[in-house]
Amino acid sequence: MTLELAVILPTLNERGNLRGLERRLAAALEGVDWEAIIVDDNSPDGTADEARALSLENPRIRCIQRIDRRGLASAAIEGMCATAAPVVAVMDADHQHDPALLPKMLKAIGSGEYDLAYASRFAEGASTDKWGQPGRVKASGLANAIARRVTGVDLSDPMSGYFMMRAETLRQHAGGLSGVGFKILLDILATVSPPMRVKEFPLDFAARVAGESKLDRTIVFEFLVGLYDKWLGRVIPTRFALFGTVGAIGAVVHLAVLALTLWLVSASPAGVTTSKEAAFIVGQTVAAITAMTFNFELNNELTYADKRLRGLIPLLTGWAKFAAACAVGMVANIGVSSILMSRGIDALPAAICGIALASVWNFALSSRFVWGKYGT
Ligand code: GDD
Ligand code: MN
Repeated sequence: MTLELAVILPTLNERGNLRGLERRLAAALEGVDWEAIIVDDNSPDGTADEARALSLENPRIRCIQRIDRRGLASAAIEGMCATAAPVVAVMDADHQHDPALLPKMLKAIGSGEYDLAYASRFAEGASTDKWGQPGRVKASGLANAIARRVTGVDLSDPMSGYFMMRAETLRQHAGGLSGVGFKILLDILATVSPPMRVKEFPLDFAARVAGESKLDRTIVFEFLVGLYDKWLGRVIPTRFALFGTVGAIGAVVHLAVLALTLWLVSASPAGVTTSKEAAFIVGQTVAAITAMTFNFELNNELTYADKRLRGLIPLLTGWAKFAAACAVGMVANIGVSSILMSRGIDALPAAICGIALASVWNFALSSRFVWGKYGT
Protein backbone atom coordinates (compact mmCIF):
# COMPACT_ATOMS: atom_id res chain seq x y z
CA MET A 1 0.00 0.00 0.00
CA THR A 2 1.10 3.57 -0.47
CA LEU A 3 0.58 6.29 2.04
CA GLU A 4 -2.89 7.80 1.66
CA LEU A 5 -3.46 10.09 4.58
CA ALA A 6 -1.50 12.09 7.13
CA VAL A 7 -3.27 13.25 10.28
CA ILE A 8 -1.57 16.32 11.74
CA LEU A 9 -1.87 16.68 15.51
CA PRO A 10 -0.57 19.98 16.87
CA THR A 11 0.19 19.56 20.55
CA LEU A 12 1.01 21.64 23.57
CA ASN A 13 1.02 19.65 26.80
CA GLU A 14 -1.05 16.72 25.57
CA ARG A 15 1.06 13.89 26.93
CA GLY A 16 -1.86 12.16 28.61
CA ASN A 17 -3.97 12.14 25.45
CA LEU A 18 -1.62 10.60 22.89
CA ARG A 19 -1.74 6.90 23.67
CA GLY A 20 -5.53 6.77 23.66
CA LEU A 21 -5.65 8.80 20.48
CA GLU A 22 -3.24 6.49 18.71
CA ARG A 23 -5.57 3.60 19.51
CA ARG A 24 -8.63 5.48 18.30
CA LEU A 25 -6.90 6.51 15.06
CA ALA A 26 -5.76 2.95 14.38
CA ALA A 27 -9.30 1.67 14.93
CA ALA A 28 -10.96 4.36 12.83
CA LEU A 29 -8.47 4.09 9.96
CA GLU A 30 -8.40 0.35 9.53
CA GLY A 31 -7.77 -0.43 5.88
CA VAL A 32 -6.29 3.00 5.21
CA ASP A 33 -2.55 3.57 4.89
CA TRP A 34 -2.08 6.50 7.24
CA GLU A 35 0.44 8.28 9.37
CA ALA A 36 -0.01 10.75 12.20
CA ILE A 37 2.41 13.63 12.68
CA ILE A 38 2.51 15.09 16.14
CA VAL A 39 3.80 18.66 15.90
CA ASP A 40 4.82 19.57 19.42
CA ASP A 41 6.09 22.94 20.56
CA ASN A 42 8.56 21.50 23.03
CA SER A 43 5.86 20.98 25.66
CA PRO A 44 7.20 20.99 29.22
CA ASP A 45 5.09 17.92 30.07
CA GLY A 46 7.18 15.77 27.71
CA THR A 47 4.58 15.29 24.97
CA ALA A 48 7.34 14.82 22.39
CA ASP A 49 8.98 12.05 24.45
CA GLU A 50 5.67 10.27 24.66
CA ALA A 51 5.18 10.72 20.91
CA ARG A 52 8.57 9.15 20.19
CA ALA A 53 7.84 6.28 22.57
CA LEU A 54 4.61 5.64 20.67
CA SER A 55 6.45 5.91 17.40
CA LEU A 56 8.75 3.06 18.40
CA GLU A 57 5.69 0.89 18.95
CA ASN A 58 3.82 2.09 15.89
CA PRO A 59 5.88 3.64 13.06
CA ARG A 60 2.74 5.31 11.71
CA ILE A 61 3.26 7.85 14.46
CA ARG A 62 5.84 10.57 13.79
CA CYS A 63 6.93 13.55 15.78
CA ILE A 64 8.17 17.01 14.94
CA GLN A 65 9.53 18.75 18.01
CA ARG A 66 9.74 22.49 17.45
CA ILE A 67 12.09 24.51 19.62
CA ASP A 68 11.39 28.16 20.42
CA ARG A 69 8.26 28.14 18.32
CA ARG A 70 4.67 28.62 19.24
CA GLY A 71 1.29 28.50 17.59
CA LEU A 72 -1.40 26.09 16.53
CA ALA A 73 -1.72 27.43 12.97
CA SER A 74 1.98 27.35 12.15
CA ALA A 75 2.29 23.87 13.70
CA ALA A 76 -0.55 22.64 11.49
CA ILE A 77 1.05 24.15 8.37
CA GLU A 78 4.45 22.66 9.11
CA GLY A 79 2.93 19.26 9.79
CA MET A 80 0.96 19.33 6.55
CA CYS A 81 4.11 20.21 4.62
CA ALA A 82 6.09 17.41 6.27
CA THR A 83 4.33 14.44 4.73
CA ALA A 84 4.40 12.62 1.41
CA ALA A 85 0.76 11.61 1.83
CA PRO A 86 -1.49 13.10 -0.88
CA VAL A 87 -4.22 13.97 1.63
CA VAL A 88 -3.78 15.72 4.98
CA ALA A 89 -6.07 16.20 7.94
CA VAL A 90 -5.67 18.43 10.99
CA MET A 91 -7.30 17.60 14.30
CA ASP A 92 -6.98 18.39 18.00
CA ALA A 93 -5.02 15.89 20.06
CA ASP A 94 -7.32 16.12 23.10
CA HIS A 95 -10.11 13.78 21.89
CA GLN A 96 -12.57 16.60 21.24
CA HIS A 97 -12.62 15.59 17.56
CA ASP A 98 -14.00 12.16 16.74
CA PRO A 99 -11.56 10.18 14.51
CA ALA A 100 -14.50 8.16 13.18
CA LEU A 101 -15.15 11.02 10.76
CA LEU A 102 -11.76 10.61 9.07
CA PRO A 103 -12.69 7.78 6.65
CA LYS A 104 -15.83 9.66 5.62
CA MET A 105 -13.83 12.82 4.97
CA LEU A 106 -11.25 10.81 3.04
CA LYS A 107 -13.98 9.43 0.85
CA ALA A 108 -15.32 12.91 0.12
CA ILE A 109 -11.87 14.18 -0.89
CA GLY A 110 -11.10 10.98 -2.80
CA SER A 111 -14.28 11.36 -4.86
CA GLY A 112 -12.79 14.48 -6.44
CA GLU A 113 -16.03 16.36 -5.81
CA TYR A 114 -14.70 18.31 -2.85
CA ASP A 115 -11.50 20.20 -2.07
CA LEU A 116 -12.14 20.42 1.63
CA ALA A 117 -13.93 18.25 4.15
CA TYR A 118 -14.43 19.60 7.62
CA ALA A 119 -16.24 18.89 10.86
CA SER A 120 -18.66 21.56 12.01
CA ARG A 121 -19.83 22.06 15.57
CA PHE A 122 -22.77 24.08 14.29
CA ALA A 123 -24.04 22.11 11.31
CA GLU A 124 -27.41 20.39 11.27
CA GLY A 125 -27.04 17.29 13.46
CA ALA A 126 -23.93 18.56 15.27
CA SER A 127 -23.74 19.12 18.99
CA THR A 128 -21.70 21.06 21.51
CA ASP A 129 -23.56 19.73 24.56
CA LYS A 130 -20.75 17.50 25.76
CA TRP A 131 -18.23 20.33 25.46
CA GLY A 132 -19.59 21.68 28.73
CA GLN A 133 -18.59 25.28 28.00
CA PRO A 134 -21.64 27.35 27.06
CA GLY A 135 -19.58 30.55 27.13
CA ARG A 136 -17.23 29.20 24.47
CA VAL A 137 -20.17 27.98 22.37
CA LYS A 138 -21.57 31.51 22.33
CA ALA A 139 -18.21 33.13 21.66
CA SER A 140 -17.54 30.72 18.78
CA GLY A 141 -20.93 31.54 17.28
CA LEU A 142 -20.16 35.24 17.37
CA ALA A 143 -16.62 34.79 16.03
CA ASN A 144 -17.99 32.67 13.20
CA ALA A 145 -20.48 35.39 12.28
CA ILE A 146 -17.76 38.07 12.19
CA ALA A 147 -15.44 35.81 10.25
CA ARG A 148 -18.09 35.06 7.66
CA ARG A 149 -18.67 38.75 7.17
CA VAL A 150 -15.00 39.74 6.91
CA THR A 151 -13.82 36.92 4.68
CA GLY A 152 -16.97 36.17 2.76
CA VAL A 153 -16.57 32.50 3.67
CA ASP A 154 -19.97 30.92 4.10
CA LEU A 155 -19.63 27.89 6.38
CA SER A 156 -21.42 27.13 9.62
CA ASP A 157 -18.12 26.78 11.50
CA PRO A 158 -15.07 28.34 9.78
CA MET A 159 -13.38 28.28 13.21
CA SER A 160 -13.29 24.51 13.27
CA GLY A 161 -9.93 22.89 13.97
CA TYR A 162 -10.84 19.60 12.28
CA PHE A 163 -10.56 19.35 8.48
CA MET A 164 -9.03 17.49 5.54
CA MET A 165 -7.72 18.55 2.13
CA ARG A 166 -5.28 17.63 -0.62
CA ALA A 167 -1.67 18.18 0.48
CA GLU A 168 -0.75 19.70 -2.84
CA THR A 169 -3.32 22.48 -2.53
CA LEU A 170 -1.95 23.30 0.88
CA ARG A 171 1.64 23.37 -0.35
CA GLN A 172 0.68 25.60 -3.26
CA HIS A 173 -0.84 28.20 -0.97
CA ALA A 174 1.30 27.76 2.13
CA GLY A 175 3.29 30.90 1.36
CA GLY A 176 0.12 33.00 1.35
CA LEU A 177 -1.15 31.81 4.73
CA SER A 178 -0.67 34.06 7.71
CA GLY A 179 0.02 31.28 10.20
CA VAL A 180 -0.92 33.57 13.07
CA GLY A 181 -3.07 32.37 15.95
CA PHE A 182 -5.15 29.24 15.60
CA LYS A 183 -7.69 30.06 12.90
CA ILE A 184 -6.00 27.89 10.34
CA LEU A 185 -9.11 26.72 8.50
CA LEU A 186 -10.43 30.26 8.07
CA ASP A 187 -7.03 31.30 6.83
CA ILE A 188 -6.97 28.51 4.23
CA LEU A 189 -10.52 29.25 3.08
CA ALA A 190 -9.77 32.94 2.70
CA THR A 191 -6.49 32.31 0.87
CA VAL A 192 -7.10 29.46 -1.59
CA SER A 193 -8.57 30.43 -4.92
CA PRO A 194 -10.67 29.49 -6.75
CA PRO A 195 -12.88 28.98 -3.68
CA MET A 196 -12.76 25.45 -2.30
CA ARG A 197 -15.67 23.11 -2.74
CA VAL A 198 -16.54 22.19 0.82
CA LYS A 199 -18.18 19.13 2.33
CA GLU A 200 -19.45 19.66 5.86
CA PHE A 201 -19.73 16.92 8.48
CA PRO A 202 -21.70 17.47 11.68
CA LEU A 203 -19.48 16.98 14.70
CA ASP A 204 -20.46 15.85 18.15
CA PHE A 205 -17.85 18.01 19.85
CA ALA A 206 -16.65 16.13 22.92
CA ALA A 207 -15.12 17.28 26.18
CA ARG A 208 -11.35 17.28 26.39
CA VAL A 209 -9.97 14.05 27.93
CA ALA A 210 -6.75 15.09 29.73
CA GLY A 211 -5.06 18.47 30.23
CA GLU A 212 -6.57 21.89 29.64
CA SER A 213 -7.42 24.19 26.75
CA LYS A 214 -4.72 26.56 25.55
CA LEU A 215 -7.03 28.90 23.77
CA ASP A 216 -9.01 30.35 26.62
CA ARG A 217 -6.77 33.18 27.69
CA THR A 218 -5.83 34.68 24.37
CA ILE A 219 -8.76 33.53 22.30
CA VAL A 220 -10.35 36.88 21.46
CA PHE A 221 -7.07 38.66 21.01
CA GLU A 222 -5.66 36.04 18.64
CA PHE A 223 -8.86 36.07 16.67
CA LEU A 224 -8.70 39.82 16.16
CA VAL A 225 -5.03 39.64 15.26
CA GLY A 226 -5.81 36.92 12.74
CA LEU A 227 -8.53 39.02 11.11
CA TYR A 228 -6.25 42.05 10.94
CA ASP A 229 -3.51 39.93 9.44
CA LYS A 230 -5.81 38.76 6.66
CA TRP A 231 -7.17 42.21 6.06
CA LEU A 232 -4.23 44.62 6.26
CA GLY A 233 -1.31 42.37 7.21
CA ARG A 234 0.28 42.71 3.80
CA VAL A 235 0.29 46.50 3.91
CA ILE A 236 1.46 46.96 7.47
CA PRO A 237 2.87 43.75 8.97
CA THR A 238 0.80 42.55 11.91
CA ARG A 239 3.60 42.55 14.42
CA PHE A 240 4.62 46.08 13.52
CA ALA A 241 1.00 47.23 13.77
CA LEU A 242 0.80 45.75 17.26
CA PHE A 243 4.11 47.32 18.22
CA GLY A 244 2.95 50.68 16.91
CA THR A 245 -0.39 50.46 18.74
CA VAL A 246 1.39 49.65 21.97
CA GLY A 247 3.72 52.59 21.30
CA ALA A 248 0.77 54.95 20.79
CA ILE A 249 -0.78 53.84 24.09
CA GLY A 250 2.68 54.34 25.63
CA ALA A 251 2.70 57.94 24.39
CA VAL A 252 -0.57 58.57 26.23
CA VAL A 253 0.91 57.01 29.37
CA HIS A 254 3.94 59.27 28.97
CA LEU A 255 1.84 62.44 28.76
CA ALA A 256 -0.33 61.38 31.70
CA VAL A 257 2.67 60.69 33.92
CA LEU A 258 4.30 63.95 32.86
CA ALA A 259 1.17 65.92 33.70
CA LEU A 260 0.89 64.14 37.03
CA THR A 261 4.51 64.86 37.96
CA LEU A 262 4.23 68.52 37.00
CA TRP A 263 1.05 68.82 39.05
CA LEU A 264 2.65 67.10 42.06
CA VAL A 265 5.64 69.44 41.88
CA SER A 266 3.49 72.57 41.54
CA ALA A 267 1.31 71.42 44.42
CA SER A 268 4.25 70.71 46.70
CA PRO A 269 4.30 72.65 49.97
CA ALA A 270 5.74 76.12 50.03
CA GLY A 271 9.38 76.22 50.93
CA VAL A 272 10.30 73.55 48.38
CA THR A 273 11.16 75.78 45.50
CA THR A 274 11.66 74.08 42.20
CA SER A 275 12.30 75.81 38.95
CA LYS A 276 9.87 75.04 36.13
CA GLU A 277 12.69 73.70 33.97
CA ALA A 278 13.90 71.32 36.65
CA ALA A 279 10.37 70.07 37.24
CA PHE A 280 9.97 69.47 33.52
CA ILE A 281 13.19 67.47 33.30
CA VAL A 282 12.21 65.33 36.30
CA GLY A 283 8.72 64.87 34.87
CA GLN A 284 10.01 63.89 31.43
CA THR A 285 12.45 61.40 32.91
CA VAL A 286 9.86 59.73 35.15
CA ALA A 287 7.34 59.70 32.28
CA ALA A 288 9.80 58.25 29.78
CA ILE A 289 10.87 55.44 32.10
CA THR A 290 7.27 54.61 33.05
CA ALA A 291 6.07 54.63 29.45
CA MET A 292 8.99 52.52 28.31
CA THR A 293 8.43 49.95 31.04
CA PHE A 294 4.75 49.90 30.17
CA ASN A 295 5.55 49.37 26.49
CA PHE A 296 7.99 46.62 27.29
CA GLU A 297 5.44 44.80 29.40
CA LEU A 298 2.61 45.14 26.91
CA ASN A 299 4.77 44.10 23.98
CA ASN A 300 5.92 41.11 25.97
CA GLU A 301 2.30 40.14 26.70
CA LEU A 302 0.76 40.83 23.31
CA THR A 303 3.07 41.67 20.41
CA TYR A 304 5.50 38.90 21.27
CA ALA A 305 3.09 36.61 23.13
CA ASP A 306 4.56 33.69 21.22
CA LYS A 307 8.07 34.54 22.39
CA ARG A 308 7.15 35.88 25.82
CA LEU A 309 10.03 36.38 28.22
CA ARG A 310 9.38 34.80 31.60
CA GLY A 311 11.24 34.79 34.91
CA LEU A 312 13.03 37.61 36.69
CA ILE A 313 16.41 37.49 34.94
CA PRO A 314 15.10 37.23 31.34
CA LEU A 315 12.61 40.01 32.11
CA LEU A 316 15.27 42.28 33.56
CA THR A 317 17.73 41.73 30.74
CA GLY A 318 14.92 42.09 28.22
CA TRP A 319 13.89 45.37 29.82
CA ALA A 320 17.48 46.66 29.75
CA LYS A 321 17.88 45.77 26.08
CA PHE A 322 14.54 47.34 25.29
CA ALA A 323 15.63 50.50 27.09
CA ALA A 324 18.85 50.56 25.06
CA ALA A 325 16.92 50.11 21.82
CA CYS A 326 14.54 52.93 22.77
CA ALA A 327 17.43 55.21 23.68
CA VAL A 328 18.93 54.81 20.23
CA GLY A 329 15.50 55.38 18.71
CA MET A 330 15.10 58.56 20.71
CA VAL A 331 18.43 59.96 19.53
CA ALA A 332 17.43 59.18 15.93
CA ASN A 333 14.03 60.77 16.52
CA ILE A 334 15.47 64.02 17.88
CA GLY A 335 18.26 64.10 15.29
CA VAL A 336 16.01 63.65 12.28
CA SER A 337 13.26 65.97 13.43
CA SER A 338 15.74 68.77 14.18
CA ILE A 339 17.45 68.38 10.82
CA LEU A 340 14.06 68.53 9.09
CA MET A 341 13.10 71.60 11.08
CA SER A 342 16.38 73.30 10.26
CA ARG A 343 15.53 72.74 6.59
CA GLY A 344 12.32 74.70 7.02
CA ILE A 345 9.81 71.90 7.65
CA ASP A 346 7.12 72.65 10.23
CA ALA A 347 7.45 71.31 13.75
CA LEU A 348 4.53 68.87 13.59
CA PRO A 349 5.44 67.03 10.36
CA ALA A 350 9.07 67.04 11.46
CA ALA A 351 8.11 65.47 14.77
CA ILE A 352 5.91 62.87 13.04
CA CYS A 353 8.79 61.88 10.76
CA GLY A 354 11.02 61.55 13.80
CA ILE A 355 8.48 59.36 15.59
CA ALA A 356 7.94 57.16 12.52
CA LEU A 357 11.66 56.64 12.08
CA ALA A 358 12.15 55.88 15.76
CA SER A 359 9.29 53.34 15.79
CA VAL A 360 10.70 51.42 12.84
CA TRP A 361 14.09 51.53 14.46
CA ASN A 362 12.82 50.42 17.88
CA PHE A 363 10.80 47.66 16.28
CA ALA A 364 13.72 46.34 14.26
CA LEU A 365 16.13 46.43 17.16
CA SER A 366 13.84 44.99 19.80
CA SER A 367 12.41 42.22 17.65
CA ARG A 368 15.96 41.21 16.86
CA PHE A 369 17.65 41.65 20.22
CA VAL A 370 14.94 41.57 22.87
CA TRP A 371 12.48 38.90 21.70
CA GLY A 372 13.91 37.32 18.60
CA LYS A 373 16.67 34.85 18.27
CA TYR A 374 16.21 34.85 14.55
CA GLY A 375 15.05 38.39 14.06
CA THR A 376 11.47 37.68 13.05
N1 GDD B 1 2.00 22.86 18.50
C1 GDD B 1 1.07 23.60 19.12
N2 GDD B 1 1.37 24.89 19.46
N3 GDD B 1 -0.14 23.07 19.42
C2 GDD B 1 -1.04 23.84 20.06
C3 GDD B 1 -0.79 25.16 20.45
C4 GDD B 1 0.50 25.71 20.11
O1 GDD B 1 0.83 26.86 20.41
N4 GDD B 1 -1.90 25.66 21.07
C5 GDD B 1 -2.80 24.65 21.08
N5 GDD B 1 -2.29 23.55 20.50
C6 GDD B 1 -2.93 22.25 20.29
C7 GDD B 1 -3.52 21.63 21.53
O2 GDD B 1 -2.57 20.85 22.22
C8 GDD B 1 -4.65 20.81 20.96
O3 GDD B 1 -4.21 19.55 20.48
C9 GDD B 1 -5.12 21.64 19.78
O4 GDD B 1 -4.03 22.47 19.42
C10 GDD B 1 -6.35 22.50 20.12
O5 GDD B 1 -6.07 23.28 21.26
P1 GDD B 1 -7.06 23.36 22.50
O6 GDD B 1 -6.36 24.11 23.54
O7 GDD B 1 -7.62 22.02 22.82
O8 GDD B 1 -8.21 24.27 21.85
P2 GDD B 1 -9.75 24.37 22.25
O9 GDD B 1 -10.34 23.03 22.43
O10 GDD B 1 -9.89 25.35 23.34
O11 GDD B 1 -10.33 25.05 20.90
C11 GDD B 1 -11.09 24.36 19.96
O12 GDD B 1 -11.97 25.26 19.36
C12 GDD B 1 -11.37 26.20 18.49
C13 GDD B 1 -12.45 27.09 17.94
O13 GDD B 1 -13.12 27.76 18.95
C14 GDD B 1 -10.24 23.65 18.93
O14 GDD B 1 -11.03 22.76 18.19
C15 GDD B 1 -9.58 24.62 17.96
O15 GDD B 1 -8.93 23.86 16.93
C16 GDD B 1 -10.64 25.50 17.37
O16 GDD B 1 -10.04 26.44 16.51
MN1 MN C 1 -9.49 21.24 22.73
